[in-house]
Amino acid sequence: MVARKLRLSVLASGRGSNFVAIQQAIAEGRLDAVITQVISNNADAPALEKALSFGIKAISVSPKSYPDRAAYEKQIVEYLKAENTELVVLAGYMRLVGETLLQAYPNQVVNIHPALLPSFPGLHAQRQAVEYGVKYSGCTVHFVDGGMDTGPVIGQTAVPVYADDDEDTLSDRILEQEHRLYARCLQWIAEGRVTVEGHRVKIEGEREIR
Ligand code: GRF
Repeated sequence: MVARKLRLSVLASGRGSNFVAIQQAIAEGRLDAVITQVISNNADAPALEKALSFGIKAISVSPKSYPDRAAYEKQIVEYLKAENTELVVLAGYMRLVGETLLQAYPNQVVNIHPALLPSFPGLHAQRQAVEYGVKYSGCTVHFVDGGMDTGPVIGQTAVPVYADDDEDTLSDRILEQEHRLYARCLQWIAEGRVTVEGHRVKIEGEREIR
């Protein structure tokens, strides 16, 4: 029997390595999903080129072409609906998501953040962790709500922070784990095992701490 494939749309602003990792997980049969399109707020995002190289539709939507965030997001929602998107996957999408998108896709927008939330939300999370001097940091996949990296946590992976780490070395160590964690969390969602109760996410059958 062919597994039903969860229909994803990816929103990315930059390099797109998480997008590529998700696409690889699909190609390797670790994720029962299909990436229907990559949408970027940045026409020069390498993520768009990478999408095209996989034969995936690449769309750029410049916020500057719209009077406000609601109008910009309304356009994005149209692209999402046109592809019957079931889950919106933020992968290095460098804009706060507003009400227009969240109301169209309640608990259907996910993000990855390069820190163990609720520590170090916002920009330069890896630099914040190095400067603070924590001994462990990591990455978090979470549902997106109206706040900055505040939504319910789906999965996390910790990595050690070494005394001689700088932002770059820590970022590399975390990124390797981001690529694994994102595909794993998306597969939980694809399997229909994820429910949100208040601010807590339940993963059916998942007892281990990850
Ligand atoms: C990642 O570190 C992700 O956690 C953060 O932005 C970065 C995007 O990297 N939200 P990439 O574009 O997926 O390579």
